Amino acid sequence: MAIPPSYIQELVARNDIYDVVSRYVSLQRAGRLYKGLCPFHSERSPSFMVYPETQSYYCFGCGAGGDVVKFTMEMNSLTYIEAIRFLAQSCGMPMPDEDDGMAKLKSRIFQMNKLAARYFHNNLNSEDGKNARKYLRDRQLTDKTIVNFGLGYASNSWNGLTDYLHRQGFQDDEIVKAYLAARGKNGNIYDIFRDRVMFPIIDLRGNVIAFGGRRMGDEGGPKYLNSGDTPVFKKSNGLFALNLAKKSGKDTFILAEGYMDVISMHQAGFNNAVATLGTALTSQQAKLIGDYAKKVIISYDSDEAGQKATRRAVEIFNKEDLTVQILQISGAKDPDEYIKKYGAQRFEMLLEGANNAIDFSLAKLKNQYDISNADERVEYLTKACDILVDINNPIQLDVYCTRLSKETGIGIESLKTQLRRTRKRRYRKQENKKEKEILRSGIGRNIKIDYREKGNTVPKAFAQQEIICALVRDNSFYNYVKDKLTPDNFTDGDMRRAYTVFVNLIEQNIPVDYSTLAYNLDGGVANTLARIFANNADIILTQKDLQMHIENLLTAKLSRSEASEKSLDEIAERLKLMREKKK
Ligand code: GTP
Ligand code: MN
Repeated sequence: MAIPPSYIQELVARNDIYDVVSRYVSLQRAGRLYKGLCPFHSERSPSFMVYPETQSYYCFGCGAGGDVVKFTMEMNSLTYIEAIRFLAQSCGMPMPDEDDGMAKLKSRIFQMNKLAARYFHNNLNSEDGKNARKYLRDRQLTDKTIVNFGLGYASNSWNGLTDYLHRQGFQDDEIVKAYLAARGKNGNIYDIFRDRVMFPIIDLRGNVIAFGGRRMGDEGGPKYLNSGDTPVFKKSNGLFALNLAKKSGKDTFILAEGYMDVISMHQAGFNNAVATLGTALTSQQAKLIGDYAKKVIISYDSDEAGQKATRRAVEIFNKEDLTVQILQISGAKDPDEYIKKYGAQRFEMLLEGANNAIDFSLAKLKNQYDISNADERVEYLTKACDILVDINNPIQLDVYCTRLSKETGIGIESLKTQLRRTRKRRYRKQENKKEKEILRSGIGRNIKIDYREKGNTVPKAFAQQEIICALVRDNSFYNYVKDKLTPDNFTDGDMRRAYTVFVNLIEQNIPVDYSTLAYNLDGGVANTLARIFANNADIILTQKDLQMHIENLLTAKLSRSEASEKSLDEIAERLKLMREKKK
């Protein structure tokens, strides 16, 4: 690419970084620089800085940085040359002529990729592809699916493909630039993909732009090997099976993590599934999905990593004009496994059930109000919070809050405040009811006698706090506690709420840390917990401690006055002394 440096300098001078960035990001002056919320990752407090002196930007949160050209590329998913054109246009400079070198190389790479895809596919059907065919059959892929996705096999050879491409008139340099071969120390090139099942990645015009290759056994390098960036491919912009999903004509897309998930879904009739290419979802990919779909169902793996990725994906989609739903898969690790285990029909039910009950209630509610009217809007939101208060999954809750916020223009923070209020009211009602029941049945009057150990008093309230603390710090304690305690064993209202929420989340396989718990509790309880955690910061809680506290809770009786918050810190102190004495 030969644009003279003088042209680029002129271009950069005419496109001031502050002017360009502030078209996308609201910037505040902070001394000699400007600060704003980073457009490349989701954040609440600004770590994105623009430096007019150097005409550059940098984000301390995600590490994105560069000049005005880089910013334009990233922001609009453009190649370098496209960004130059874009900036030239916006400041009225004459356009640089694209050097044909690059255009030629791109077209050569497209040709090579197409040939390679055909070569891999033919290999699969040859004697050499026997194992690969067996592998795909074992994974229950039909011949039709194999053809539909153009799957192939890269031989266990260092030069099968490169020799073939040489014979077709391609040079070493071009083959390396296409990421089909790498150059060895001796200067010779060799095949990158060897003994792998090949998944071609195809763009919307039908060009093969890259490959993913899966090893078939347990050995032989990483499970998947994916093409690196080339002049025709940028990993962070691509989506697997977008070409097919677009053709499905559906306005909902399913986003999965893996190639195999997508292929399984298509084979089962869900031809609107796509996947990222082994990287976390980027805003460019989210935009791309938004160009073709109105709704996206995130269908990631059910493990912890998958749930974490879901949370990040939701944040990214929230910036787009898209309805987001989350599929909670249980009983299988990913959609591929789920479909194999339970069949397409149950997967469809899962898809349809994704938030259906809540969606339905919200839609019904919305019909009853004219939300262009301020009073009705408030009432709609209040009622909506009554529906949302039952959601314990914070990611899901976020999805709905964002949707409501977009619908009504009410800030997401106000919505969350309202939700907290609703939750408080709801709990208070339940608590009052429970308390009355306890009093009526006479249990309350019996909770009187202190738990004593060597003359020291440890009230139940303290035991409860320690149990919650231990559980949150190490979720695996739950297996130990699970069968021993129910929420009703917690006599302290706050800790009962904390335990109830904890159980709810953990039973959904959502890992519970302090902030997850706090998010689901009202401010007072969250604060109490923060204090308990701070107090316990340098104490290791073992299963033995847990056992002691559970015993206290179940067998000891306490006087109500003992449980008052004020004395707890003293008790913590006393317990510490007791422990030290034991040592
Ligand atoms: P299998 O069912 O095990 O064949 O894979 P999958 O399609 O379910 O993929 P998985 O959930 O294991 O991983 C999701 C995606 O991450 C894959 O489709 C790849 O794009 C990518 N990926 C997985 N393993 C690797 C790896 O070892 N290296 C690289 N670069 N990417 C990987
Ligand atoms: Mn899988």
